[in-house]
Amino acid sequence: MPKRRDILAIVLIVLPWTLLITVWHQSAITPLLAARKCKGHSSNSPCRGFYDDRHESRRDSRNAFTLKEPCTSENTKDIVEVVRTEYVYSRQPPWSDVLPTLHVITPTYSRPVQKAELTRLANTFLHVPNLHWILVEDSQRRTLLVTRLLQETGLNYTHLNVETPRNYKLRGDMRDPRIPRGTMQRNLALRWLRETFSPNNSNSQPGIVYFADDDNTYSLDLFEEMRSTRKVSVWPVAFVGGLRYESPKVNTLGKVYGWKTVFDPNRPFAIDMAGFAVNLRLILFKPQAYFKLRGVKGGYQESSLLRELVTLSDLEPKAANCTKVIYGWDSKWTDKRQAPGKQDQGEIYIYCNTTVKGVRQPYCLLQAVHSYVSIQA
Ligand code: UGA
Ligand code: MN
Repeated sequence: MPKRRDILAIVLIVLPWTLLITVWHQSAITPLLAARKCKGHSSNSPCRGFYDDRHESRRDSRNAFTLKEPCTSENTKDIVEVVRTEYVYSRQPPWSDVLPTLHVITPTYSRPVQKAELTRLANTFLHVPNLHWILVEDSQRRTLLVTRLLQETGLNYTHLNVETPRNYKLRGDMRDPRIPRGTMQRNLALRWLRETFSPNNSNSQPGIVYFADDDNTYSLDLFEEMRSTRKVSVWPVAFVGGLRYESPKVNTLGKVYGWKTVFDPNRPFAIDMAGFAVNLRLILFKPQAYFKLRGVKGGYQESSLLRELVTLSDLEPKAANCTKVIYGWDSKWTDKRQAPGKQDQGEIYIYCNTTVKGVRQPYCLLQAVHSYVSIQA
């Protein structure tokens, strides 16, 4: 019966192979099955410790990456990967004892876009190690909106408030000096720093102070550039003063000798609030240095603080000797100061507070700035 013999031979060849493939396939999927089973287990199963730790670590950012023994040692790799992707973006980096702390001071006031602006800032700050956010509300009391937002971010923060008196808020005409925006709030934060940290305590962690308005966008590089500030560091800022960027002028020896700006380049420090950072020790050693409240012309607020702290030759240029524009965008610049759609055509508009036949003219074309437009922001 040759036919039967053939069938037997085929069975004897195929059967061992089938068994072999089945066993091999089973061993490949077992860890994944074990992981799924583990998830569905009741609370008194042996897997409980691991999954509870996972939820616990969502609540406690400091434990975000400390996972305990999972169900079996075999499945560790698969599970750890899943856990990381779940919450790595919602947690700030671990605190380091060696990096200087960045004390970021932000004045803020109530308006429809406030929550959106603060959310954008918080999302940026979550990427920066050792950041302490000092948020100062321009209000009679700390609002629930800001309190909740700060609590939910998981950032290290200090929440303060001081209200700018109403009559100070009205912008007078050009001859009438006014209180610049956010000044009282920044000064309160400086006072808080001086009351909290002592200049003589050499053990305290070094710090850098930076003024970050709530309507700006900050590149992450910027925070690492400023971290090494010894006295006052400076860099170019994009989209301010009606330009694509303003910048300190730096000579071949790496010293600042002037300012690339169109708006009043004769200011002692013709720089935007977002363009400099100060070492905390300097703030502590010069307790009289505050932003001036009265008699400050528009654009002179930064100078009023900086002239109390340093001279031009002390400035430390960052961002590759100020050849890189590493920060960008004041959202108001697009809203109000730049005619919509014009930037694409290579035309730069500067805000000018003029009135023609009784109608306020918000934009005027400024040809002179074209020579600056070669560096890309
Ligand atoms: C520009 C500069 O970018 C500011 O750093 C500077 O303080 C200001 O000019 C000035 O010299 O007055 P600008 O875009 O005109 O700022 O002003 P805003 O961005 O509206 O205000 C600056 C900061 O102050 C913001 O963080 C804002 O939330 C806060 N602010 C503004 C208040 O706390 N209260 C206000 O009534 C208005
Ligand atoms: Mn602004």
